[in-house]
Amino acid sequence: MSTSVDALGGSPLANDTLLRALRREPVEHTPVWLMRQAGRYLPEYNATRARAGSFLALARNPELCAEVTLQPLARFPLDAAILFSDILTVPDAMGLGLSFAQGEGPRFAHPLRDEASVRALAAPDLEDLRYVFDAVACIKRALAGRVPLIGFAGSPFTLACYMIEGGGSDDFGRVRRMAYARADLLARIVDINTQAVTAYLDAQVAAGADALMLFDTWGGLLTRSAYERFSLEPMRAILRALRPGRDGRSVPTIVFTKGGGGWLDALASSGASGIGLDWTVDIAQARARFGAVVALQGNLDPLVLTTDPATVVREAGAIVRAAGPGPGHIFNLGHGIVPAADPENVAALVETVHNVSREIHSASRVARLT
Ligand code: CP3
Repeated sequence: MSTSVDALGGSPLANDTLLRALRREPVEHTPVWLMRQAGRYLPEYNATRARAGSFLALARNPELCAEVTLQPLARFPLDAAILFSDILTVPDAMGLGLSFAQGEGPRFAHPLRDEASVRALAAPDLEDLRYVFDAVACIKRALAGRVPLIGFAGSPFTLACYMIEGGGSDDFGRVRRMAYARADLLARIVDINTQAVTAYLDAQVAAGADALMLFDTWGGLLTRSAYERFSLEPMRAILRALRPGRDGRSVPTIVFTKGGGGWLDALASSGASGIGLDWTVDIAQARARFGAVVALQGNLDPLVLTTDPATVVREAGAIVRAAGPGPGHIFNLGHGIVPAADPENVAALVETVHNVSREIHSASRVARLT
């Protein structure tokens, strides 16, 4: 098995298929990891969360973050770990006052509801996010070079959605109205988030993250021109500004705009190594059009994991075959795993991706040699 030097410049990774796939280099099998792979579908996650007292107490405890990050890897031979944290740590550190009501979702005590609060907004002191960087370092030690660790942040626009609305929303109406009526204010929020996210991601890499992902969960709500201005351009600015990793190479990056399937042309030129696809995208077509330019990640409907192993094997196999033998596919869900997912189905998924892709990759190697 080939090895690569990890971001801390020393210990080799036993399994670096994710990093190779993101660089569109050949792999023996398609790497697979799942958005929200450490989460409520796992009884051991619920137990640790209960011990911590709340989701936020868990996210602020580096040792417990390491414990839950490794839980899915103990069950399934996944090809990557993802930092256990949340995208809303950054606006929390800007003083917006994050809480999670039981069974409800995030709430900010001080959302950006008037011009004065937007004027007063500033990028956070990274010291207030030290618990996240400590978690990265703690997870790196616990992983001991088994697989790469993915760090992440919310996109500047998706963070702005929660900062303006003050929580989740079906349509983020306040934000969309602001994009038309007070574009200057939205531009200011997104600018400050861009500075904040760049520094936050650089610090995750300095602490040991091997790859980075930007979650643009709500960019798909915008018109194409507003998407370019308020979501894509800020993500481009972050990707341009990121410092190299400790090995001197650029850090592999993934950008995921949910609902961005119609804008893959723009996303392909974002500067990211890979683009996340939601389940509405035809991955064979996306690979044919953009596979020579960027890696593609995805894109099983998360609800398939609430069915049965035979259905999972069929649907996951179809995606691996549709993605084909060329380099640059990372298997994932089209959005985060849901609490109702059955761990037995996750096991079937990971096994199917590895087995089917190994066959496809070795058949294409033989074809190239003959
Ligand atoms: O992928 C992983 O395993 C890493 C952990 C991770 C979490 N949140 C943990 C979490 C990641 C990458 C996120 C990102 C995140 N957080 C996003 C972007 C990705 C996406 O899903 O679109 C967003 C929009 C958030 C904001 C957020 N955090 C919401 C809307 C919620 C509540 C929704 C829900 O599922 O209940 C959270 C809470 C949250 N973040 C949980 C987890 C495991 C569930 C909280 C709990 O344990 O009670």
